Amino acid sequence: MRLQLATWPEVETYLSASKGIVIPIGSTEQHGPTGFIGTDALCPELLAFGLAEKRAAAGNPVMVAPTLSIGMAQHHLGFAGSVTLRPSTMIAMVQDIVNSLAKHGFERFFFLNGHGGNIATLNAAFSEIYAEHSLGKADDNRPPVRCTLVNWFTLKRVMDICAERFGDDDGAHATCGEVSLTYYGFRKDAERVRTAEMAPGRAGDGPIFDCDDYRRRFPDGRIGSDPRKATVEAGEVLYNAAIEEIGARYDAFLAAD
Ligand code: NI
Repeated sequence: MRLQLATWPEVETYLSASKGIVIPIGSTEQHGPTGFIGTDALCPELLAFGLAEKRAAAGNPVMVAPTLSIGMAQHHLGFAGSVTLRPSTMIAMVQDIVNSLAKHGFERFFFLNGHGGNIATLNAAFSEIYAEHSLGKADDNRPPVRCTLVNWFTLKRVMDICAERFGDDDGAHATCGEVSLTYYGFRKDAERVRTAEMAPGRAGDGPIFDCDDYRRRFPDGRIGSDPRKATVEAGEVLYNAAIEEIGARYDAFLAAD
């Protein structure tokens, strides 16, 4: 069930049966010459919608919040189209969203993340949210909340599939795995972008600092990857495996003491 397509009475009914919600979170940033700028947001959104569809068919609805599609991506600003929130803005955004939903009775927030650069900031946001309760500043209306962060790209089965198919060419940014998943989700646009010119072979590896340094080290945007190996077929395999594992992780999170 997508929150955006639900009515408020439907949300009330949902809350009488479940206190859980999936929040896809990603980024809007360059993904090399052949990857979509929305890759990191599109991947968790595709997977969250896929899980919701599967659960709806089984009569066990999962609520999916609107995707938070802009994240912490300051290092990508040397490339056209990239957008960032500074960490403090993102923490405030996540806090406000969790507190809004908690006011209505949601208690377990399952952040399905598509961007490594969000991890530190998201964990800081969770600490800010818990601190509101611990310091006695939380609204009386707010139930105790728990947040968890699951990165789709580090799920065990996803990592196994990527290692098997792409080996070292999967890389660290504009990876074969994430590009494959978006090619599967958006085939028509994939046909357009996949033929773009790119330097041969794997991109180099290295540390990340500011955006000018990033562009100097990684001139076409990739880190360590050769996304020419991305395929729609691999994307479909990743999609099915990831949804299954995410479903199990979500159920365990809701059931935990
Ligand atoms: Ni990415």
